Amino acid sequence: MSSEVDVTAFGDLLMPQEAAEPILAKPVRGALLEWLTEIWAEDELRAAKLQPRRRAIFDGPPGVGKTTLAHHLSARLGLPMLAVRPDRLVDKWLGSTGKNIGALFDAASRGKEPILLFLDEFDAIGMKRREASQGAEDERNSFVNTLLQCIDRFDGFLIAATNFSGHIDRAIWRRFDVHISLALPGQFERERILARYLDPHGLPSSALTAMAEALETASPALIRQLAEGLKRQIIIGPKVGWDMAKGAVVDRLLAAIQPHPDLGKPRLWSLGAADSAVRALPWPLPLAADCSGAAENAPESESAVVPFRRAP
Ligand SMILES: Nc1ncnc2c1ncn2[C@@H]1O[C@H](COP(=O)(O)OP(=O)(O)O)[C@@H](O)[C@H]1O
Ligand SMILES: [Mg+2]
Repeated sequence: MSSEVDVTAFGDLLMPQEAAEPILAKPVRGALLEWLTEIWAEDELRAAKLQPRRRAIFDGPPGVGKTTLAHHLSARLGLPMLAVRPDRLVDKWLGSTGKNIGALFDAASRGKEPILLFLDEFDAIGMKRREASQGAEDERNSFVNTLLQCIDRFDGFLIAATNFSGHIDRAIWRRFDVHISLALPGQFERERILARYLDPHGLPSSALTAMAEALETASPALIRQLAEGLKRQIIIGPKVGWDMAKGAVVDRLLAAIQPHPDLGKPRLWSLGAADSAVRALPWPLPLAADCSGAAENAPESESAVVPFRRAP
């Protein structure tokens, strides 16, 4: 046997029990359920000479939950997920990139336990091939070809994620038979995301609606940072003698948290403490349990991510 390369040389191994369920729009949840149902029906499919689809590509802007969703899925399948870091594959001299890709897939198929392979920032390795005119282009084309062969041979679960689906080589794109686009959250999802990350605090329904409106175009990651930053200030601020007036807290928060440059600034960042959503914000921030009549404030019963291989 050739020398074994440990998969963790290429990224982080994430365990099922550490996964959290992302808050997703209905069509995405539908697509996901469909895929899981297909995987759980593997035996019936095989009897009909079919195979469940095992390769998916998630595309969408940064911070919408691509990694979170892949991890959640691996947990539903009862598999650890190797989150491959592209910088562990792409060699600055390019020459080694193809070798790294080969070694990764080798290690992933040879392990004793199956893992789900998650290739983040997939555009970095799966980019379109170009007409070779220079050495560097030759190298790129050659590792994209290597990647194609590795994908074809790999029979485990493979999920790729990208913010730039247009940059992916078409032949590589076709190898993925499940395509799921994650968009920025709508008003309903923003309210639920806010409620999740404000917990154990919460907001009365009208204030939650107003805040979610002021966060239009925000990614879930940004909403999480904001809600958690707020809770952190509420705990730490008084201990270090900060001004805990509502406007001062909001100003500090907005100065410290920067929306992703590609996504634009939600209204809250333009108006700051003067935003009507901030005026509607009860202060001090109440506990969720004390907010009457706001069902969306109830911390969701986090659908415990049980490893769940087959439908009963
Ligand atoms: N849809 C979502 N619901 C709840 N939390 C989310 C969601 N999307 C992202 N997050 C949170 O934002 C952070 C970044 O998410 P991540 O999955 O890495 O996004 P991406 O891979 O699309 O860039 C994580 O901490 C995650 O908990
Ligand atoms: Mg990610």
